[in-house]
Amino acid sequence: MKVTVVGAGAVGASCAEYIAIKNFASEVVLLDIKEGFAEGKAMDLMQTASLNGFDTKITGVTNDYSKTADSDICVITSGIPRKPGMTREELIGINAGIVKSVSSSLIEQSPNTIIIVVSNPMDTMTYLVHKTTDLPKNRIIGMGGALDSARFKYRLAEALECPISDVDGMVIGGHSDKGMVPLTSHATRNSIKVSEFISEERLNQVKEDTKVGGATLTKLLGTSAWYAPGAAVSGLVQAIACDQKKMFPCSTLLDGEYGLNDLCIGVPVILGRNGIEKVVEIELSDAEKAHMKESAEGVSKTNGLLEL
Ligand code: LAC
Repeated sequence: MKVTVVGAGAVGASCAEYIAIKNFASEVVLLDIKEGFAEGKAMDLMQTASLNGFDTKITGVTNDYSKTADSDICVITSGIPRKPGMTREELIGINAGIVKSVSSSLIEQSPNTIIIVVSNPMDTMTYLVHKTTDLPKNRIIGMGGALDSARFKYRLAEALECPISDVDGMVIGGHSDKGMVPLTSHATRNSIKVSEFISEERLNQVKEDTKVGGATLTKLLGTSAWYAPGAAVSGLVQAIACDQKKMFPCSTLLDGEYGLNDLCIGVPVILGRNGIEKVVEIELSDAEKAHMKESAEGVSKTNGLLEL
């Protein structure tokens, strides 16, 4: 199992680290445009192998796509991260050009690969990869919902004053401050609806804190977060590599599901060796349906800014 991670910045490096620590891939290639940077990160990570007990070989390369040839999975993290006060949508100008050229270079070397898109604005970048590569839709996956759901569970556990392993919940919709749809009506603590434990007001607070999860961290860190994004990507990569048939909310090209067409947005999917093996359609409350519709309108508006 060969995995390429493009972009050796904080998210890319953390993604390579979590993949390696889980020890299911034979090789991770880390690629960056900055001379020597990916080589340095790869060497530093390899020097943790004996300490952390993994055998995955991590190789760093400077912009040499030939080294990514025949990758089973490619992760695109390249582009600029947001700064405090910025929305993910504001990154489109610079990141669209980068994602377009990176995805073309990856496909030239690995025509059968599965691509995971992390660069922001993520749903629009996932759509752009479809338009650029023309890969079948099961092989292009946008990472947002897995991360947003992890943040939702963190906030739920905080509100319920319980361990995170007690709670379950999912965030669908666009990966943006306004577009995220935390499914509060489906969230549970040990299979009991969370509304049994906390007030509607507190649950609404959880929802709002979840939606600005990335922005809160960007304000604290001065740049966007990396540990949870890296861990979320590694979860998707592992589900595909190990054919787990695991359910995650991911951004995928919709063709009528949830009443939506011709856009990529977060919905529950089953991930296995063929990438997105199924889109799972669940019953939403009226409020969630309305929020999902509004979220899709936001994503489509951002897609309209692409020069296709
Ligand atoms: C975040 C970035 C990865 O939400 O979009 O932290």
